[in-house]
Amino acid sequence: MKRDGEKIVALTAYDFLFARFLEEAGIDILLIGDSLGQVVLGYPSTIPVTLEEMIHHGRAARKGAPNTFMVLDMPFLTYQISSQEALRNAGRVLKETGVEAVKLEGGGAATCRTVEALVQAGIPVMGHLGLTPQSVHALGGYRVQGREEAAAERLRAQALALEEAGCFGMVLELVPAALAKDISESLTVPTIGIGAGADCDGQVLVLYDALGLNVGFRPKFLKTFGDLASETRKALSAYVDEVRGGAYPGPEHSFSDDS
Ligand code: KIV
Repeated sequence: MKRDGEKIVALTAYDFLFARFLEEAGIDILLIGDSLGQVVLGYPSTIPVTLEEMIHHGRAARKGAPNTFMVLDMPFLTYQISSQEALRNAGRVLKETGVEAVKLEGGGAATCRTVEALVQAGIPVMGHLGLTPQSVHALGGYRVQGREEAAAERLRAQALALEEAGCFGMVLELVPAALAKDISESLTVPTIGIGAGADCDGQVLVLYDALGLNVGFRPKFLKTFGDLASETRKALSAYVDEVRGGAYPGPEHSFSDDS
């Protein structure tokens, strides 16, 4: 798709029903992101997310979208300790969920060695550079990365190193648009941007943010493509009113002896 200049459309999902909607919409990559921690499990960051939680949701999403290419985020400390441990954990992900690939954050030398080990074992790996949420405390918050020249140079080098290590693509999160364009043009593998401008080879968003369900979360890069928060509130208040007022269930929702 990158070679043909076709934009790659990616979105997250974490369960059966939404995964089914994504497959119906023709999404190119369904990401079971560890944003699961914040938007589904109510954690303050992605750091507490466990491998068991990712596998549990990965399995559910797989059932809803059996024909969509799926990438699952390896959660914090499931791939940083050693390449061997990463291989064991990523192998479990592929065996137990049926997803096609995993995603790791970071682009340092140790991460690249781990990417090589996974790729050699036949596990496709997607990289993730820029704002890497599992390192939020080390980065001092959720802020744009690579604004200073030294940091930009480091990201350029890490992107090339991840490609060299065998990543089939990488997410660029919260980096200036010009830098993301530069990196995208320097790679043969595709970049998937989030808060990284229009010149990445594809785009990804967190599903609930895109649908307008994540009330109060309005970073500059986010466009909401629906207002499901209002729709949900409307539906819930109608249900509450109708049950309290006795309008639901009506005779058409009730069974008689023979129907
Ligand atoms: O966890 C996630 O949802 C992600 C995307 C935002 C890229 O990593």
